Amino acid sequence: MEKKVAVLPGDGIGPEVTEAAVKVLEVIAKRFGHTFHFEHASIGGDAIDQHQNPLPDETIAICEASDAVLLGAVGGPKWDQNPQALRPEKGLLAIRKHFDLFANLRPVKAVPSLLHTSPLKEENAKEVDMLIVRELTGGLYFGEPSHHTDEGAVDTLLYTRAEIERIVEKSFEFAQLRKGKIASVDKANVLESSKLWRKIVDEKKVAYPDVEVEHMLVDSTSMKLITNPAAFDVILTENMFGDILSDEASVITGSLGVLPSASMRADSFGLYEPVHGSAPEIAGKGIANPAATILSAAMMLRYSFGMEAEAVAIEKAVDTVFEDGSFTADLADSAQQALTTQEWTEKVINEIESQSVSN
Ligand code: NAD
Ligand code: IPM
Ligand code: MN
Repeated sequence: MEKKVAVLPGDGIGPEVTEAAVKVLEVIAKRFGHTFHFEHASIGGDAIDQHQNPLPDETIAICEASDAVLLGAVGGPKWDQNPQALRPEKGLLAIRKHFDLFANLRPVKAVPSLLHTSPLKEENAKEVDMLIVRELTGGLYFGEPSHHTDEGAVDTLLYTRAEIERIVEKSFEFAQLRKGKIASVDKANVLESSKLWRKIVDEKKVAYPDVEVEHMLVDSTSMKLITNPAAFDVILTENMFGDILSDEASVITGSLGVLPSASMRADSFGLYEPVHGSAPEIAGKGIANPAATILSAAMMLRYSFGMEAEAVAIEKAVDTVFEDGSFTADLADSAQQALTTQEWTEKVINEIESQSVSN
């Protein structure tokens, strides 16, 4: 197959981790006989510096001409004092909105060889296998009015029925492919948007009798994520709650550096990015963990290109490298044992190449 991938490295460690993922995709192309065309474009602070715009038209055009987008991360102290329209994060929100990427999939699965890095007791973390389905183009992030003065500020939490319906349906479809259990997370004891959310979940569940649904409040969910994380299968939630709960869930299994994500719309086009940010304090040092971005590339192969065997090849290689005890600094026991981003990526590449010999 021939596919076009737009690569948006962004800021901080973004360029380092996307470069690693592109290398892995190139090896996959070679092994499985595909051709991937990579076209790079700017987003975030990088785009502000070059074009005074966190999401330039040229970047949108390159993404529109592609089958999928691979993104690193945006943001950093350099741009933190900028007005809202010239903040790197604005570029990320704008690209999600422009392409209507309403369904953000964030899988969190325990990896046996990483359990020692979890702050949780091993017996609590080892069975964890959940999928956070986060609504990505509505809610507080996009509602108008949204502004502030020194005297007051307003953000608007707005959800339409159609916006809720489509993310709820997505979560039921994923639950059917998994253990058939949804925890729909809201704040229905306070928020009007959550009351509508609950109503729509209840309406939709009639069409999926094989799926079990539990409504849960976000505050107690954040507690249960730590006390009994293995109880969750699919977590369905709105934009802001999903942002917070997914960073919380990342520590269950080890590091933010290993969590991938896919942002999808109704067709196969998608944007793939690590859950983590630009980690400015370690940027440029060559020590970032590229696993989250490499695993996001695997999600791209699976969801946008229908390449299941290719996705599994990457995921297996990453698992094997972890099992061998090879870690970047965020997971290694000591600085001496830590591999650089490039060294760790080479291990994954060698592993994929040796799979092809044994197959
Ligand atoms: P962060 O995710 O960048 O970093 C949180 C912590 O995790 C830091 O200690 C960092 O060093 C570590 N970390 C993150 N990714 C890592 C990796 N791959 N390897 C090793 N360690 C890693 O979050 P933050 O510090 O709150 O935010 C920094 C900037 O990133 C901000 O400007 C924020 O807006 C932006 N951000 C962007 C995205 C995105 O582009 N999707 C996501 C979150 C935050
Ligand atoms: C994420 C990030 C973004 C979000 C920020 C950088 C706008 O935290 O992808 O999780 O809040 O969605
Ligand atoms: Mn986040």
